[in-house]
Amino acid sequence: PEEQTFALIKPDAAKTHKDEIMRRVKEAGFSISKVKEQALTREMAAHFYKDHEGKPFYEELVNFMTQGPSVIMVLSKENAVEEWRKLMGPTNPEDAKKTSPKSIRAQFAHDILSNAVHGSSNIEHAERSIQFAFGELDAD
Ligand code: CMP
Repeated sequence: PEEQTFALIKPDAAKTHKDEIMRRVKEAGFSISKVKEQALTREMAAHFYKDHEGKPFYEELVNFMTQGPSVIMVLSKENAVEEWRKLMGPTNPEDAKKTSPKSIRAQFAHDILSNAVHGSSNIEHAERSIQFAFGELDAD
């Protein structure tokens, strides 16, 4: 069955690699059901990264994510949550280069913080983030 995930091209990559990343997304068989370009507010960043609150990198993460426009997307595909995480590759580009050299992070991430893309880790988070970003849940 078709599934939806929440995906985001972060400010570092949105500036320089937006078209290339969107091309990779489509090439991998995702449909881009929704897309908008906007700088995250601190409230939005706090919502998407609730699970990381209190971690040593949290403030740095929120500052980074609110510094400029991101490309915010809803991606649809069979098994979309897991498939998008695979296409992104591991959080740390050093790991990504070793284990998944064709992944987006291996190719476009600068470091563990400025790592080009984000994706929800499970369906519940995906639904929550889609709802928050686009204000509605898709029925299909
Ligand atoms: P993301 O997949 O968006 O989810 C959490 C984000 O926190 C992660 O990508 C990185 O941008 C950031 N992050 C995770 N671990 C670290 C770390 N050790 N140092 C700095 N940033 C981190």
